[in-house]
Amino acid sequence: MSSKAAKKKTRAPKVSKKLAKQPEKSVKGKAYAVLVAELRSLLKGEYDFIANTANFSALVYNSLPDVNWAGFYFLKDEELVLGPFQGKPACVRIPFGKGVCGFAAKQCETVIVPNVHEFPGHIACDVASNSEIVIPLFDGERVLGVFDVDSPTLKRFDDQDAEGLNELVTVLVAHEEGLDG
Ligand code: SME
Repeated sequence: MSSKAAKKKTRAPKVSKKLAKQPEKSVKGKAYAVLVAELRSLLKGEYDFIANTANFSALVYNSLPDVNWAGFYFLKDEELVLGPFQGKPACVRIPFGKGVCGFAAKQCETVIVPNVHEFPGHIACDVASNSEIVIPLFDGERVLGVFDVDSPTLKRFDDQDAEGLNELVTVLVAHEEGLDG
């Protein structure tokens, strides 16, 4: 091999400064990226809200490891009312501000509960649940409801779950509002 060819072979690949600065997506981050792609494909061409939220719940429930409940509550007249879900039958109505779901809806923020038994006012629907994450759904500034995921494992959910689930919920709502083209 000529010295020129040898030099060429060992040269490091060119990476733009912008790309080089971006952190590598974690395994969990990559898994959520796959879920987002699967969700887009499930939603394509379908605008029935019940069908799409039902499939959304099934996708999350069957894809995320270590989860025993995943589903929606929608805000109706100051109450969160059970929507499409996967898991054991759950409480149907949660007053706005009550439980983890009501708290997330009232605060308009994602809530991660590492140990539900330490959350004041937690509403136990499935005794197997030990940790929980609740993501609010927005129409602009208005809260439409929440997406709730439970796990039998303590500290199951972290910031990457919050980020991934928020992206999934954002894709769903944008689709329902016809904002995804
Ligand atoms: N744990 C929730 C109630 C809903 S179930 O977990 C499905 C809460 O405290 O709001």
